[in-house]
Amino acid sequence: MSSGALRLWKNARLATFATGQGWGLVDGGALVCAGQHFVWAGPLRDLQMPSGELRAEHDLQGALVTPGLIDCHTHLVYGGDRAAEFELRLQGARYEDIARAGGGIRSTVAATRAASSAVLFQTASARAQALMQEGVTTLEIKSGYGLSAEHETRCLAVARRIGAELPVSVRTTSLGAHALPPEFTGRADDYIDEACTWLAAQQSAGLVDAVDAFCDTIGFTPAQTERIFQAAQRLGLPVKLHAEQLSDQGGAALAARFGALSCDHLEHLSAAGVQALRASGTVAVLLPGAYYFLRDTQAPPVQMLRDAGVPMAVATDHNPGSSPTLSLLLMMNMACTLFHMTPEEAWRGVTVNAARALGLPDRGQLLPGQRADFVVWNAEHPREITYRFGHNPCRQVVQAGVVSNFREPA
Ligand code: NIG
Ligand code: FE
Repeated sequence: MSSGALRLWKNARLATFATGQGWGLVDGGALVCAGQHFVWAGPLRDLQMPSGELRAEHDLQGALVTPGLIDCHTHLVYGGDRAAEFELRLQGARYEDIARAGGGIRSTVAATRAASSAVLFQTASARAQALMQEGVTTLEIKSGYGLSAEHETRCLAVARRIGAELPVSVRTTSLGAHALPPEFTGRADDYIDEACTWLAAQQSAGLVDAVDAFCDTIGFTPAQTERIFQAAQRLGLPVKLHAEQLSDQGGAALAARFGALSCDHLEHLSAAGVQALRASGTVAVLLPGAYYFLRDTQAPPVQMLRDAGVPMAVATDHNPGSSPTLSLLLMMNMACTLFHMTPEEAWRGVTVNAARALGLPDRGQLLPGQRADFVVWNAEHPREITYRFGHNPCRQVVQAGVVSNFREPA
């Protein structure tokens, strides 16, 4: 790896999350970046400075440093909000019934189609910045509220623009198979035929990194999902799936057959589904925000996933209907309290395992060769960050070797 101009951060308490080393704590740690990558991450006393001009040196005076956080499942680009739907649900209406009556995702589709691209960009970038204030350096953004060739492309372009204009890496996911748009009522198979044809143009415009679908009773059937996956596979695009959120459709096993990067939600995942994920190396992305906000009572089978060695990630699932949160730190706390994940599992879920859910092996750990995305915290141990909630101890964010925001110590 070429060195060039170097930047040194020293006297840190590193939590590297190196594989097989638990937290991977290193006291008296140093990080050296050359360009966008680490050339050293380890004890300062063992550092042999690579050749090159030392452009900056920071003394962190013992502060905790972790990898940058990765939010691997969001629906950040949409118009309007669903606050009125929340009130209806509090009065007893069910999420599925609101959706079947034409509300839910469809109401956000109408608001998204009516919004200008400028407004979609402005609102989505404000949401991205809220996530970044807590240390998010990589973000996945799905389409899925346009549901036509024109509007899906527009939403993906807005997502790409966020990655181009803000100091955050963005991965885009095409989610045309999110819900049936009103103009296709009663013709779901025709809609899937059409949605399959959009992928090639989205890909050649450089707008899509992966393909997702919502396989459920208010989404699409396994057979329809399979057709979307086949279209993705023909283009060499990796797939992901909103699977077993409200019911068990065997979606995880289907996605595993296509070597899916991740299956997400999974409240109703069966033992057979767990084994399918294990065999395909698919990441289970757990979304406590949606579980909480829909007042679900069936938690995903975390113990079965753990026993099978399925990697688990945690994400916000930010969207206006089922998870309007903009705090990945809160999701880490809720992954522990609601899903009984350990604090270390929650951390791996927003770092190394989230990277894997996005097919990005170059980040998520503090190791030489990885992208220099990291966070300096006002905390002594990462477990403190999963313990408090409604509190943001993020002090400094470095993205691709460059300081991207700064907050004074609390
Ligand atoms: O991930 N489950 C499907 N999609 C979103 C919710 C979409 C919405 O309600 O607007 C989710 O929870
Ligand atoms: Fe989602």
